[in-house]
Amino acid sequence: MNKSKDVLQILMSPFMLKSKKGQKEEDLEKIAAQEQKQFQFQTLVSATKNFDPSNKLGEGGFGSVYKGRLDDGREIAVKKLSRSSRQGKKEFMTEAKLLAKVQHRNVVNLLGYCAHGPEKLLVYEFVAHQSLDKLLFKSSGQGVLDWNSRHDIIMGVAKGLLYLHEDSNSCIIHRDIKASNILLDDKYMPKIADFGLARLFMEDETHVNTRAAGTNGYMAPEYLMHGNLSTKADVYSFGVVILELISGQKNSTFNGHPESTSLLEWAYKLYKKGRSLDIMDPSLASSANPDQISVCIQIGLLCTQSDPRSRPDMQRVVVMLSKKSGTLEEPSRPGYPGSRYRRSQKPHALDSTSGTSGDSNFYPFSSTTKTDSATTSTSASTNRSSDPKGKRPMQEYTDS
Ligand SMILES: Nc1ncnc2c1ncn2[C@@H]1O[C@H](COP(=O)(O)OP(=O)(O)OP(=O)(O)O)[C@@H](O)[C@H]1O
Ligand SMILES: [Mg+2]
Repeated sequence: MNKSKDVLQILMSPFMLKSKKGQKEEDLEKIAAQEQKQFQFQTLVSATKNFDPSNKLGEGGFGSVYKGRLDDGREIAVKKLSRSSRQGKKEFMTEAKLLAKVQHRNVVNLLGYCAHGPEKLLVYEFVAHQSLDKLLFKSSGQGVLDWNSRHDIIMGVAKGLLYLHEDSNSCIIHRDIKASNILLDDKYMPKIADFGLARLFMEDETHVNTRAAGTNGYMAPEYLMHGNLSTKADVYSFGVVILELISGQKNSTFNGHPESTSLLEWAYKLYKKGRSLDIMDPSLASSANPDQISVCIQIGLLCTQSDPRSRPDMQRVVVMLSKKSGTLEEPSRPGYPGSRYRRSQKPHALDSTSGTSGDSNFYPFSSTTKTDSATTSTSASTNRSSDPKGKRPMQEYTDS
């Protein structure tokens, strides 16, 4: 009896120690801080060795990203928003709160955030192999990703996007899907990063008009030219990423063929000639699965159709990716900034919401479409020179 009491006391001792008043309050504070996912600025200063340049992982349109290590050993990536960035406190809080709710294996995990005076920081899980662009477009990364890895990346990003569009608490449009916003974990599984541009998509709206914010080379024409935003803008960007993964070429700096001005145009011309596999990255030669690659090229072209209604939604994309070739719809010429928009006369069989209220309201180029006057005047060329990161202009947010 005594023996079992001793054992019980030993087992209970850690809890009994914590029940002391001071300790208990401290624990409660810790739990509350974790719940709110708020980090002390000092914690991030010491985790990143005072944002030492040697810990810098990269720099995007909104600031720099630093690698860090918390006291408990967890590795983190801290995004320190630049003070000159147009991103204001409001948008920062939106992103932080939104991301805190998002949980999916193909979406990067936001551990927390910190607002310290004028400093705004986001704390993410550190994703081991960093971003896809570094492996795809830099000579040092060549040969790392074989076809199976690239196919897994396509599938993973599709599932992550499907989750954001349909399965998360509210429909989240990412707005900035691109190779540098796809991070790869230690097993090269993709995680979609950066929801700074995302907005909650109200249930009763099918699309929103807003100022365009995104990156050149990935933006759907209706979004770039008219600011018309729907989940189909993400589908378009995803289609560009598919074709980049297959060709190893960056759409925005494409110079693969003298007679084609973009990767999409080149892929489509070869597709029409029955030679779509010619766009394949030569480093895939030994690992390629030609049937699977052909299907993916066709899906990439379907995702980048100029009429958003002709693009599949992400649910359909996931189904198509799981299918064998020969059963897919025929893509017509893809849309890209500067290309002429032609509304398809065909029924929009690609969209699983077709015929529902979802798309019947979507007339992106109609003169009756209400657009923000600031958006209709934007064009690809006017902003590129003033914007070295290739970002589209965003709405000015003022701190409040
Ligand atoms: N969670 C993370 N884990 C590991 N590396 C990361 C993480 N987040 C970002 N990085 C690295 O930091 C780099 C910079 O990221 P950042 O998002 O600031 O720039 P970007 O994606 O090029 O541009 P944008 O501002 O348009 O998103 C990325 O390219 C990536 O390599
Ligand atoms: Mg990014």
